[in-house]
Amino acid sequence: MKAPPNFNRLARLYRWMELFSFGPWLMVCRCAFMNECLNSCRALALGDGDGRFTARLLRENPIIRIDAVDASSAMLSDLFRRARPHADRVRTYQADVRSLQLANPTYDLILTHFFLDCLSTEEVKSLAASLGGAVCPGCLWIVSEFAIPSDRFGMLVARPIVWALYRVFGWLTGLQVRSLPDHHLALRQAGFTLEKQRCWLKGLLISEVWSAANSSPSSSAGLSGR
Ligand SMILES: C[S@@+](CC[C@H](N)C(=O)[O-])C[C@H]1O[C@@H](n2cnc3c(N)ncnc32)[C@H](O)[C@@H]1O
Repeated sequence: MKAPPNFNRLARLYRWMELFSFGPWLMVCRCAFMNECLNSCRALALGDGDGRFTARLLRENPIIRIDAVDASSAMLSDLFRRARPHADRVRTYQADVRSLQLANPTYDLILTHFFLDCLSTEEVKSLAASLGGAVCPGCLWIVSEFAIPSDRFGMLVARPIVWALYRVFGWLTGLQVRSLPDHHLALRQAGFTLEKQRCWLKGLLISEVWSAANSSPSSSAGLSGR
């Protein structure tokens, strides 16, 4: 397995890069299904980066506890700084999500905002399979992602933008992946069902709610880590 990308030197700039390139749209996309997160008690945030979404979710849902996993120590310290007012409800784990060990998880919410695009389809399949067999019944999985619509806009605009993003992030972070994974295939195969989807910028950005059909009786802590 290749090393995960290194987002450390982008942590402080990330928010400004995002605002400069996509304005408010990525944040709109992340928060599109905030209401669906308000009844959750236990969330697993994968690759949440600088924690703007995590901090907002902690503010809006006063009972939720969040385990945040990211490979980047700098991103995790920004996340923890933003989440500090609710520090008792967030735990951070510096780890490669591809080798995540879930011990008796009780998560009822999984969050992956603009993270699955750092993985290949095979890696998303493996992640979804391990999560699918190990979450609460009815667990929701919120996905925000880039997408390439199959129309003229997709071919002429979205595809070159996604291509350019992969080149830039490949250069800046060492990210090896060069195309969007088929996360629909991966999540469906793992037993998740697409419940809702919204699109922005003519389909370049999508936000989705998936639900787990499985039932996995469990009662104790989730991740093992620091
Ligand atoms: C493109 S950024 C997205 C950050 C944030 N979720 C957002 O909405 O903008 C990807 C994040 O995933 C993390 N990441 C990438 N690959 C990873 C891996 N294999 N394991 C853990 N974290 C990873 C990076 O460190 C970075 O913080």
